[in-house]
Amino acid sequence: MSERIVTLSVNGEPRSVIMPDNATLLEILRDHLELTGTKHGCDLGECGACAVLVDGVPVLSCLVLARDTEDHQITTIEGLGNGAAPDPLQVAFAEFGAAQCGYCTPAMVITARALLDGHGSPSEEDIRAAIAGNLCRCTGYIKIIEAIESVASMGPT
Ligand code: FES
Ligand code: FES
Repeated sequence: MSERIVTLSVNGEPRSVIMPDNATLLEILRDHLELTGTKHGCDLGECGACAVLVDGVPVLSCLVLARDTEDHQITTIEGLGNGAAPDPLQVAFAEFGAAQCGYCTPAMVITARALLDGHGSPSEEDIRAAIAGNLCRCTGYIKIIEAIESVASMGPT
C-alpha cells in the first residue's frame, strides 16, 4: 500500500503525517495526532460520534479520506475549547447535565457549534434536525437540546 506525506491544517496548526492512501481522517486524528476527543464509534457513518468540522461544516471523519482534507481547515473538539477556555457549549453541556457517559458529547458540541455559527437563532426543530445524525444512548436528548438552546439565546458566541 502506498504512503505519502500529507499536511493537514488541524485546529489552526499545520500537521504533517506520513499516511497510507486509504487512511481515514478519523484514524489520522486519533492514532497519529493523538486528538482522541473525536470518538471512534461505528466506523460506518451511522453513529455520528466521529464528527469534526471541515471548513466549518460537520463531517463524519470515519467516512473521509484524510488525504482529501489537505488544503481544508479541520477543527476538532480540542480546537473549540479546553478546561481553561471552554466553548460556551461545553459549559452549557456541563451545567445542563447534557453529558452522561460523554461518548457522543464531542461530536454533539461540534455539530451544535456549526449550527450556532451558521444560524442566528435556531428553533428547537432546527436543533433536532442538526443533531439528528448524532446518536446518544444516555440522555434522551432533552438536556442536550436545552443546553444548545441556552447558548443560542446568548446571541453570537
Ligand atoms: S464512527 Fe463515524 S459515524 Fe460512527
Ligand atoms: S452521553 Fe452517553 S452516548 Fe450520549
